[in-house]
Amino acid sequence: MKKIEAFIRHESFDAIRAKLADMGLPSMSISEVKGSGRQGGYTESYRGAKTTIFMRPKLKLEMVVDDTDLDRAVDVILELAHTGEPGDGKIFIIPVEDAVRVRTGERGDIVLAPHPEDGP
Ligand SMILES: Nc1ncnc2c1ncn2[C@@H]1O[C@H](COP(=O)(O)OP(=O)(O)OP(=O)(O)O)[C@@H](O)[C@H]1O
Ligand SMILES: [Mg+2]
Repeated sequence: MKKIEAFIRHESFDAIRAKLADMGLPSMSISEVKGSGRQGGYTESYRGAKTTIFMRPKLKLEMVVDDTDLDRAVDVILELAHTGEPGDGKIFIIPVEDAVRVRTGERGDIVLAPHPEDGP
């Protein structure tokens, strides 16, 4: 199991969510975060007063996936988050030790498999 932690632009999320769901990968969490990449801050001025803004809003998309789904999930994020401009984001891939489904107590890869009674 691997966790994909992707920092993406808000605008790219709807298409990414829809395509992953179509591929059978609907399980994810998102949160609104603020962050900076290698550019650091940028300076804005208001009536002569300059302020440097270090943190910009991004979406953090987290998904724990089976190893066999990792590459295709990363490919979707890469394809749809990419504009070619600075700030497109980053994708981190982190090993996951174990997973537990609280309802059933199941552990391991089975927790990530589609469930027969799961609807859309
Ligand atoms: N090393 C990091 N650790 C944690 N979060 C990061 C890291 N790098 C980037 N991020 C997050 O990803 C967001 C987008 O980063 P960004 O795309 O600007 O990266 P970059 O390395 O500056 O690449 P680019 O040159 O394309 O802008 C940041 O605002 C931050 O939230
Ligand atoms: Mg950047």
